Amino acid sequence: MDKLVIEGGRPLKGSIKVSGAKNAALPMLAATLLTEGRFTFVNLPRLRDVHTFLRLLEELGAEIDFESYGKADAPVSIDTSSLASYEASYDLVRTMRASILVLGPLLSRSCQARVSLPGGCAIGERPVDMHLKGLERMGTKLNLKEGYVEAKCKRLKGAKIYFDIPTVTGTENIMMAAATAKGTTILKNAAREPEVAALGNMLNAMGARISGLGTATIVIEGVKKLRPVEYSVIPDRIEAGTFVMAVGAAGGSLKIEQADPSHLEAVLSKLKQAGLKIKTGKDWIYVECKRRLKSVDVKTMPYPGFPTDLQAQIMALMATASGLSVITETIFENRFMHVAELKRMGADIKTEGRSAVVRGIKSLHGAPVMATDLRASASLVLAGLGAEGRTEIHRIYHLDRGYQAIEKKLASVGADIRREKADMPY
Ligand code: EPU
Repeated sequence: MDKLVIEGGRPLKGSIKVSGAKNAALPMLAATLLTEGRFTFVNLPRLRDVHTFLRLLEELGAEIDFESYGKADAPVSIDTSSLASYEASYDLVRTMRASILVLGPLLSRSCQARVSLPGGCAIGERPVDMHLKGLERMGTKLNLKEGYVEAKCKRLKGAKIYFDIPTVTGTENIMMAAATAKGTTILKNAAREPEVAALGNMLNAMGARISGLGTATIVIEGVKKLRPVEYSVIPDRIEAGTFVMAVGAAGGSLKIEQADPSHLEAVLSKLKQAGLKIKTGKDWIYVECKRRLKSVDVKTMPYPGFPTDLQAQIMALMATASGLSVITETIFENRFMHVAELKRMGADIKTEGRSAVVRGIKSLHGAPVMATDLRASASLVLAGLGAEGRTEIHRIYHLDRGYQAIEKKLASVGADIRREKADMPY
């Protein structure tokens, strides 16, 4: 199994390009199930989760151009002219919870679906009850059997659905199901994340009639039929935010290209308060860090608040900022797995329920550490870039789920980071 080896203390310099967003690409891939024909995706990130989703689509009967997928940057086409199955098996779903996103599209297309229920994961219990309740409101009969949700419907019908809390994939699942339902669906307290809006924009390009994207009320007027499209995936705001913070950790300056700074307002504003110098253009972010950062408090919130997917990374920065920082995680109940690993590098962090109190120290020291989930891995990379000495990060398959070639990108701007085979089989 691979590990990352980082020699810390090398300031960054140059420019780095952001890839397509994982969390936009996955629902867009699910949307190809909604109608027959050939879709083409530009800026599709090459990630383990994207590859798993393509395999899931293939199992369902789609033809995937894996040869193009194997070439970085090539457009990738997916032909969903005929589907062979309506089942998402446990084997795939357990490796990627986002597989639940096929439920809405399969019901819309085939009026039946059998999808393994995702279990809990490292960051929390993560139930999917709001996806299921929404689909029931639209006329789906659900049966939970042997760990699978078996769903059947006649043509789905529009409904008014209130989400108890904004759910990203829940909003996406229902929006896809509603696109071809009979009548109008109104989603209240819907998720406002840019990835939800990007999916809605793609559905509209396919012929759907969706309004209110980016707001808490989304209205979907069902249409009879959708058509395939060629579509481009939006830039990954979490990857871009991670690179901005990499400058905070390692020092130096970076121009982050192919980014959308309008998706990162809460994050950039927080990082400016912490002392980073940041300038933005339409599709770039310039960051400079010349001195030690100041501590800031952070509370994760649904968009447009500070994203939970950048909580672990900002904690790595706060570990060496001057002062005391309180970081509160409000989205997932167990998203502090990185704390124990950061402490192995010398960080002074105490957790109390959903908050972590971080007392900034002068510098972290390199250590062997273990990646526990995707964003926790990114925080260890940042910690390693700023630490004195060598950090080895094990179990980096978590990182490969959501960051395309992160070590190559960082090495190209001056970081001393490389991938090696680990001698230990973990
Ligand atoms: N929730 C429920 N019931 C549901 C659905 C959600 O109680 O039916 C709860 C969750 O347990 C959580 C909150 O609602 O406490 C919000 O969860 P949400 O449904 O929004 O999360 P998700 O859709 O499963 C997506 C991203 C996550 C990201 C969250 C929050 C994708 C594929 N995943 O997950 O991304 O953290 O939204 O922004 O879009 C990551 O990329 O590392 C990642 C975990």
